[in-house]
Amino acid sequence: KNIKKELNMKKILITRRLLRACEEKASKIFDAKLNGNDELYSQSKLIELSQGCDAILTSITDKMDKDTINKLPDSIKAISNFAVGFGNIDLEAAKDRNIIVTNTPDVLTDATAEIAMLLILGAARRASEGIEYAKNNNWKWSADFLIGKQLTGARLGVLGMGRIGRAVAKLAKAFGMIINYHNRSKLSPELEDGAIYHDSIKSLFSVSDFLSINCPATKETVNIINKETLKYFPTGAIITNSARGDMIDDEAMLDALDRRKIYAVGLDVYKGEPNLNPGYLKHKSAFILPHLGSATKETRTAMANLAIDNLDEFFNTGQCRNKVN
Ligand code: GLV
Repeated sequence: KNIKKELNMKKILITRRLLRACEEKASKIFDAKLNGNDELYSQSKLIELSQGCDAILTSITDKMDKDTINKLPDSIKAISNFAVGFGNIDLEAAKDRNIIVTNTPDVLTDATAEIAMLLILGAARRASEGIEYAKNNNWKWSADFLIGKQLTGARLGVLGMGRIGRAVAKLAKAFGMIINYHNRSKLSPELEDGAIYHDSIKSLFSVSDFLSINCPATKETVNIINKETLKYFPTGAIITNSARGDMIDDEAMLDALDRRKIYAVGLDVYKGEPNLNPGYLKHKSAFILPHLGSATKETRTAMANLAIDNLDEFFNTGQCRNKVN
């Protein structure tokens, strides 16, 4: 009766709803436990549902901390995260339990770089205020109405020149921006593609009329934008974040916005999201989006397929090229 069991299919728990075609693909390859209501599972529910499973396909909303991972059944051999970032998973705890963790790099690079440009443009051109005026149907054109900042000729600092940072640099170049960057290590001239390397954040921030945050959230990058480092920026700089909210000290940022030290922010990600710091909600200089970086049909499809393929590769070969722990 249970053909999937007879076929010895691997059993996987998929914690959140995926696009339909992707769930169908998962169900062809695996005995997949789906989440029809897209309920956000509690820790105990996730652990309960993972009983008898060989792997879990997680999303960034699943907090796979040490405690959760330690309570997973021994049958779990892999956690495939439906994201390029994996700050929601304790990699060490997984490794200690012999559980491999995989991510979905590359496929979301372009979509995320596009959102980064939207943040840059939205913050620079005062899109939040503009949308509000337009929707209130209460505005008149005038020569000095909602004057913003121009990208052409401005210096863009890219913090984290990985795949996404480089894609942002490429797009920003097309807007006439001058690209500067800081990264753990200097890139080859080919990957730099004309961008100017800075060996410290102080050096980078001091030339950043705009800063695009594209580094991963790590112990080293948490609150990298704080009261002290905000001082390094030219007055009137614009800061955008399409990576993770962890990198920004929100109170320091809101204070810098109020003092006009920072002209505007463009944010797609937040500490404690979806409960963002209320200071951003009504701030006229905050152009804010609800974590849409990879949210296109093409990209979400490719991400889910890759998250599924990562598990398939692991179960077939014992390895996975997108393993991160
Ligand atoms: C999304 O936030 C991701 O890391 O893929």
